[in-house]
Amino acid sequence: MKIDILTLFPDMVRPFFEHSILGRAKRDNHITVGIHDFREYSVDKHQSVDDTPYGGGAGMVLRVEPVVNALRAVDEEHTALRILMTPQGLPYNQERAATLAKNKHIIILCGHYEGYDERIRDYFDVEISIGDYVLTGGEAPALVVCDSIVRLLPGVLNEASPEEDSFSRGLLEYPHYTRPRVFEGRAVPEILLSGDHAKIEAWRREESLKRTKKRRPDLYRKYLEKRKNR
Ligand SMILES: C[S@@+](CC[C@H](N)C(=O)[O-])C[C@H]1O[C@@H](n2cnc3c(N)ncnc32)[C@H](O)[C@@H]1O
Repeated sequence: MKIDILTLFPDMVRPFFEHSILGRAKRDNHITVGIHDFREYSVDKHQSVDDTPYGGGAGMVLRVEPVVNALRAVDEEHTALRILMTPQGLPYNQERAATLAKNKHIIILCGHYEGYDERIRDYFDVEISIGDYVLTGGEAPALVVCDSIVRLLPGVLNEASPEEDSFSRGLLEYPHYTRPRVFEGRAVPEILLSGDHAKIEAWRREESLKRTKKRRPDLYRKYLEKRKNR
């Protein structure tokens, strides 16, 4: 997958792709990453990317020209999926991550300031929000999206399987344990030491259901409904 990020703060974004699983995904050529400072596509001599809003009011507005020029430089024919990060976008979740992960090329715009010149929206395919809160810029949201997508790409996670993760099957994941067997009087459930894989599987499934019902009754209801309609 090719990932292009348009940002005013490339140094905030760059290190994220140098470490851990994303760093490895890049080194192993599962992803190629382009980080573009769209200030370089500004149309005036001061390299400004924002301006005061027509009609007055607080804050600065991102101008349309630098963004559209940057888009044309990295995706002339508009073959990539163009994603705009905004708290006004579609709520982000695992299902959406799985859909985005099917694209060969994505471009993500990180906003800043009070907001976008509304005409910028016409050049994007999808608007995404990572939650009902407002951050200062789109860099953290863009990285959330990248992380969640890259780990789903075939071959990126070695041993772990993303299908086991929370949300992938509409449930939260079961509890995990590792050594020691007993810690301050709290023992690992016997079943996990039994070596009986069928029983362990059944226990995990049960725990996953219990946990989802308790912590996320909304997900649990959805899961039951889906099963009923199958
Ligand atoms: C201060 S915010 C602008 C918020 C805007 N005034 C509004 O109320 O919709 C600046 C930028 O941060 C990013 N951002 C902030 N919160 C976000 C969220 N929850 N999801 C996605 N992007 C977000 C967007 O790129 C946004 O353009």
